[in-house]
Amino acid sequence: MAETQARANIGVVGLAAMGSNLARNLAHHGNTVAVYNRHYSRTETLMNQHGSEGDFVPAKTVEEFVASLKRPRTAIIMVKAGAPTDAVIEELANAMEPGDIIVDGGNSYFEDTIRRERNIRARGLHYVGCGVSGGEEGALRGPSMMPGGTEESWKTLGPILKSIAAVAEGEPCVTHIGTDGAGHFVKMVHNGIEYSDMQLIAESYDLMLRGLGMKSEDIADVFSEWNKGDLDSYLIEITADVLRQKDAKTGKPLVEMMVDHAGMKGTGTWTVQSALSLGIPVTGIAEAVFARGLSSQVALREAAENQGLTGPDMHFDLNDSERKAFIEDIRQALYASKIVSYAQGFDEIAAAAIEHDWKIDQAAVARIWRGGCIIRAQFLNRVSEAFESGQASVSLLFAPYFKDAIEKSQAAWRRVIARAVEHGVPVPAFSSLLAYYDGLRSKRLPASLIQAQRDFFGAHTYGRIDEPGVFHTLWAEPNRPEVKQD
Ligand code: 6PG
Repeated sequence: MAETQARANIGVVGLAAMGSNLARNLAHHGNTVAVYNRHYSRTETLMNQHGSEGDFVPAKTVEEFVASLKRPRTAIIMVKAGAPTDAVIEELANAMEPGDIIVDGGNSYFEDTIRRERNIRARGLHYVGCGVSGGEEGALRGPSMMPGGTEESWKTLGPILKSIAAVAEGEPCVTHIGTDGAGHFVKMVHNGIEYSDMQLIAESYDLMLRGLGMKSEDIADVFSEWNKGDLDSYLIEITADVLRQKDAKTGKPLVEMMVDHAGMKGTGTWTVQSALSLGIPVTGIAEAVFARGLSSQVALREAAENQGLTGPDMHFDLNDSERKAFIEDIRQALYASKIVSYAQGFDEIAAAAIEHDWKIDQAAVARIWRGGCIIRAQFLNRVSEAFESGQASVSLLFAPYFKDAIEKSQAAWRRVIARAVEHGVPVPAFSSLLAYYDGLRSKRLPASLIQAQRDFFGAHTYGRIDEPGVFHTLWAEPNRPEVKQD
């Protein structure tokens, strides 16, 4: 049977939208692609609709699928994260042989990837957790990909992934991120940054909508204009498109007819949880996750409305030239916030690399995010340059380009937040990112008081600015003597 000849150089398991588009992309680029889905009807649909686009080898069983792959057999799993992924891995591992490569292209939690890699390696196979970004369209036309796993597996997988990746500035948007869970970790942080970008855009929209009383179509024009400058990015571009979309039923902007409860599948929350464990503040991402959470607390929000919780008039009373200037202020606030948010995301990657002994090249990460993925943006050219030159080796905020950008935009950033606070328009991401920036640049923070309180109620000890060592004050004694601890 043709299907059981080992002639495919790559296989895809799971043929829902992402999997079938990835399989088609692989086939479009000269790969012979084995395809398998638990329910054969999906495989048939792919073959009927797109079978002529390239060289596919459809399989009815896992065994047939594995038999159709050339050695080292390489299979990309595109199924739901969690238990379904574990089930497919087990089936493949049972049918495969040492040296073969199992790739998980889903949004798996990186700790799961570390565990799976360890188990699969013990069986002599390679396991690669590979972040894939760009949605269904990206999977078909060129995603950005973030594979982990061994160097050896990258030798086989690298050329295949390079053949289908998005291309930015002439380079394929894929690189070997690091061992075991490194790829999925970086993809997770990508999604966290995506959350923060989306929240910052939503806050900008709200300032124009409720603060300035602008119409959706006029706000769309502002975003289109912004997309010509420093903010040039996929998310700004689609925001303008989204705001122009009319509802077929009412003729109103569609966004105004949509419920305001933002969903989430977990990657943003994971990013924040990991950052908390690593002790790295990612305030922009955290506020973005919390803002989605608040939006979805439907009963509580309704109750708050019924309670008539009070606040100031949200409308900013500005004349035409003031309005124009304020829109420019919002643009600058968005840009400054974005810079700080990316700095935080890269800090998290750097901290995880130390924790897990991953050799992650931050410049390469920024480079592969320039195309194909959801956060793709012109700005990532500057980010990759900053890392490449070593100027961002401690923080992206120390690279002269970004330091200057924040210096120039921070007055506007502060004006926007001040006005928003005065009028009760919530800007959690804008303001928490500014608070982080102000905290970061403070020579002295009020944390000394926290240390004193901790020592007072719990004898947790403290350090002194003028002498090394650990100290405790006997707060309960009349003259409160200080004792140096051993
Ligand atoms: C991507 C996206 C993709 C997906 C997210 C959305 O990089 O292509 O990030 O992974 O759209 O899962 O996440 P939420 O449903 O949590 O918003």
